[in-house]
Parts: sequence; structure tokens; C-alpha cells
Amino acid sequence: MAKSEVNVGLLGWGTVGTSVSKILLNHQEQIFQNSGVRLNLTKVVKRTLPAHREGVNLPENCLTTNPAEVIENPQIDIIVELIGGIDQAYQLIIQAIRNGKHVVTANKALLAERGIELFQLADKHGVGLGFEASTAGGIPIIKALTDSFPGNQIQAVYGIVNGTCNYILTQMHEQMTSFEIALSAAQEKGYAESDPTLDIEGIDAAHKLAILSSLAYNVYLPFERIHVEGITQITDREIQYAQEFGYVIKLLAITKKTASGIEARVHPTLIPEKSILANVSDAFNAVCVVGDAVGPTLFYGRGAGGMPTASAVVADIVEAGRSASTGVVNSLPKGWIANELVQGVVSSIAEVETRYYLHLIVRDRPGVLAQIGKVLGQCDIGIAAVIQKDSHGADTVSLVIITHQALEKNMIQARQLINQLEIVSGDSILIRIEELDFAST
Ligand code: HSE
Repeated sequence: MAKSEVNVGLLGWGTVGTSVSKILLNHQEQIFQNSGVRLNLTKVVKRTLPAHREGVNLPENCLTTNPAEVIENPQIDIIVELIGGIDQAYQLIIQAIRNGKHVVTANKALLAERGIELFQLADKHGVGLGFEASTAGGIPIIKALTDSFPGNQIQAVYGIVNGTCNYILTQMHEQMTSFEIALSAAQEKGYAESDPTLDIEGIDAAHKLAILSSLAYNVYLPFERIHVEGITQITDREIQYAQEFGYVIKLLAITKKTASGIEARVHPTLIPEKSILANVSDAFNAVCVVGDAVGPTLFYGRGAGGMPTASAVVADIVEAGRSASTGVVNSLPKGWIANELVQGVVSSIAEVETRYYLHLIVRDRPGVLAQIGKVLGQCDIGIAAVIQKDSHGADTVSLVIITHQALEKNMIQARQLINQLEIVSGDSILIRIEELDFAST
């Protein structure tokens, strides 16, 4: 018989957990009106007590420090994991699944690294495992990729999926602040992970891309197969030069279907300043999904922060509530469960074909550009535009080159040859370009 009330236990009462409890308590009636499911927040686990959160009045005896009071509690139907990290969260979730509970998690690192085991176990036990909040915060991109494009072959997904990096790059672009000042501001605003390395080195975005790519191509794309570069190399100088060529620098998570396989890469990317993604500012996220039938579509919203992320968590809780109430579980990602990634189907970064921004420090002498152009030409790379900037002292200058479309393996070879030239000093900076020109799709 359908249950009219469903009991929910929260594991973790940090920023997102607090916001989830606020929504569940303050909007209980509205959720019931919208979904027909009455959600009771029954238990909240917090590592240390006492605890108080402004504007949240938990029911009596709701708070506990003991996860077993939730996981082993036969009254609780849905477990919401918001503690983060991998090992403890994994143990708690598998125990909850074995106990027949539906699970909701926002933990992208856990899914990217151990999702296959969790989905397989959930499938075996006939419970749901919701993960809308794991990627792009409040944007319903998981639901969109799972449910909204069945008539399409997804050609590409381009995501701005790390709010911290987008905030930092926006500040550097608009305010001309340094990377360090912009990072501190992002941390103060609560966007960054507890370890900001995960954000600024691109790892958080890569965790999210592993999820997006797996859903887009109905496979299991392991996190380790993603090429990842962060934004720590990006200086205000790079931002300024990119601007002079009409580009903005964004950290993009990109997955594409090509003739040779699936590309999956996270790296700083020059995109045209007039493109919609270039105008996604601050901690906002955006995901562009390109399908062969629909063409480009765009999903935009807040990708970090308590309430936006809680909005996605609550959507999953409602879905799990329906499952608990009707016994019907919405499908789990099939390609992921089946571990369908054939070895070698992920293209290596060397096979990527794109345009490049190449910043070299060179001697300011006649013939230098000719020497660089010769090496690029030998490697089958054409030059589209060049600027020469700033004296660095000791008669050196910046030479910034935009190339035509080229194979990455050719660019790797060209860089090695260029670095050996006597006229070149210091490390070069290479940034990929995506034109995001969807006119033909
Ligand atoms: N640190 C993440 C971000 C939080 O900046 O986007 C949301 O996953």
C-alpha cells in the first residue's frame, strides 16, 4: 500500500545540510502540494553537539552524533549523505542501501571514484540513488541528461561547473585582481571546497565531468581517464592578452563524441567574448548540451552555495519519497551500472584537435617570428594571429600566437622544438581555444 508519509535522515549538517533542513521544515506543506509526498525530517546527524542553526527549529530528539541511529533506523526511508569525503560516506551509503533505504547524495568525488559500485549495489537492492546536487548545484542538469534527450545523440557538453574558479576568473577579468586575492574572496563567500586545491586544480570540475560524460554517452567514464588542468597558471596578463584577441578565459569541462571516441577534458579555455558562456559570471555555472536533433541547449544557475545545492537535494528527496511511497524506483544510469566503457574508447589528449593560444618569451630580434613560424609549419600548425607585447628586460618580449585548428600531438612536438630554440626563454603558456560556434549544429 502506498505510504503517505516518508521519513528522512540527514547525514551531515553543514552549509548544505542546514539549507536542506530549512527547506524540508519550512516548505513541508508546499512539497506535499507539489508532489503528493509528505516528507518528515526525522533525524539529523552532526559530528559534534550541541549545535544550533539560525532559523532552523529541528523536531525534538532529531539531532544525534551517531550515524547508526539513521542508517539502522527502520523508521527512516531515505538517507541524505552530505558529509563529503570518500571513505566514510561510502561505508555509510553501502550500509544504508543494504538496509533497503533510498539514498540521496551531493558527493561528486564519491560518485566519480566509486559510483559504479554504489549504482550496482542500489540496483541489486532495488533502491534509488539520487545525485542531482553532485553537479552544477541547483541546475537540474542530471535530470536533463537522464530524461530530456532520449531522441538525441549528444555531440558535446561544455560546462562551467566550478563556481570557485568561475568567481576567481571573473574577478581577475573584471577587477584585474590577482589570483590570490580572488581566491580568498571565493573562500570567504563559501564557494570553495574545504581544500581549495580541488577547485583550482580542476579536480572538482573533473569529478563533475565524469558524471556528465557518463550520462551523456550512457557509459561509465572513469575519473582517471579525464585530462585535467587547473587555473593556477592563469595570470592577469593571460587574461588581458586573451581579451585583446576577443576571448575570455573560463575553466571548461568538455566532453565530445568524435570519430575516435569520447573526449573528456577540463582545462582553462579561451572562448569568444560574445558567446553566452563567456558571460556566465561569478559563481554561476552553466552547462551547454549539444544534441544532434535539438542543437545547442543551455542550462544556467547557481552552482554552489547552501540553498541552490539544497534545492537539488530536495528534488532528489522528493523523487526518493515517491519511490518509497509507491515502490517504483526510477532508473539508475544503465551504462554506468553495466560498466560499459570499452577500453580505449576515451580519446587521449594527444588526439584532440583544436585551436591554441601560445604565449612565448623570446628575444626581441629580427627573424624570431620566422623561426617560430617555421617550427609550427613543420608540425603542420598554421598561425592565425600574433601580437608582440611588453619588454621583460634583457631584450626579451612576449610573443602571443593564436593558431588555426591543429592536432594536440603536433602542438606537443612543436612546443618541444620551440623550447630548444636559443631565442626562447622561460616556459611557454599553452591554452586551448573553443570557438563554440554552433551555427552548423
Ligand atoms: N567548490 C564547488 C564549486 C562547490 O566551487 O563549484 C560546488 O560543487
